[in-house]
Amino acid sequence: MTARTSDIDKAAGVLRGGGLVAFPTETVYGLGANAEDPAAVARIFQAKGRPPSHPLIVHIGGAGLLGDWVQEVPATARLLAQHFWPGPLTLVLRRSHRVPLEATGGLETVAVRVPEHPVALALLAAFGGGVTAPSANRFGSVSPTTADHVRAELGDAVDFVLDGGSCEVGVESTIVDVTGEIPSLLRPGGVTREDLEAVLGRPIALDAASPVRVPGQHPSHYAPRARVVLVEPEKVAAEAERAQDAGHTVGVFLPPALAGTPVKAHAVVALPASMAAYARGLYGFLRELDQQGCDLIVASLPAEEELGLAIANRLRRAAGPRPSA
Ligand code: TXA
Ligand code: MG
Repeated sequence: MTARTSDIDKAAGVLRGGGLVAFPTETVYGLGANAEDPAAVARIFQAKGRPPSHPLIVHIGGAGLLGDWVQEVPATARLLAQHFWPGPLTLVLRRSHRVPLEATGGLETVAVRVPEHPVALALLAAFGGGVTAPSANRFGSVSPTTADHVRAELGDAVDFVLDGGSCEVGVESTIVDVTGEIPSLLRPGGVTREDLEAVLGRPIALDAASPVRVPGQHPSHYAPRARVVLVEPEKVAAEAERAQDAGHTVGVFLPPALAGTPVKAHAVVALPASMAAYARGLYGFLRELDQQGCDLIVASLPAEEELGLAIANRLRRAAGPRPSA
């Protein structure tokens, strides 16, 4: 889906005026501001309720512009950009002075990516600068994959919402730190580890630590309102029944291998067999079970290969301990 030219121009004008624009990317919707305007960047943190120490991704219109935003472009970064941009890959590099510290949470590094969505690229071209954008959701909750998700969650906190239909990839970009000798995978996402390794010609380790150590940050993230419980795939039906009998309003992510199995629960999402379709639908499924009033979601992890690695990462974080408020 493409946006009208008048909408793109209006959105670019809002960015120039220091406002916030929600826009589609191929991964999820972003909440964008002019990356070079510290006051506009500060509004993003306010709108999301996100701690200001949590760094943002700068979106640029083409790989050729990377040099403006970073001190140097190491050979590995160039190689990865050449293969995967535009696309769901974010590279962490040393920031140039063009990037204000407000956008990096005070870090000397900056995360940069060229999104693949035609509306995002049209916006970046019309605006002409870099757009710093986290996912357009409240901090810690499920990322939006449609314009309606954004409106429902952020409403008036956004000055303009560009509607580009639903996001094709459905999970966020893969983040690779290329500041050191050896690249490291900070967040699995739309570009698979296998694809990265094929291009790099070497294995790439998944950094067990969180990308950035934010003091007091809670492990729960990408979380719906309902609590998420992860069990072995073959135990999904039994666990759902147990919880439903115990008085919960249970939602179930039913693995494809169990398709057709009767499940005692309030709502059942029959998961697609294709990992691409699962990734595309993941956040929508979580939102749907919330909307149906579920207070508990029973799910299992897919095999942690290809896109399954990113899906499992999000499910683990969604199931992480919550603040005991
Ligand atoms: O697909 C995506 O990446 C989406 C779309 C909108 O582009 N954006 C997104 O942004 O997921 P956000 O803010 O929800 O996640 C950005 C991640 C955070 O986990 C942050 O810690 C990490 O990027 N990050 C940003 N700058 C970093 C840096 N300098 N070093 C390490 N990690 C960084
Ligand atoms: Mg996010």
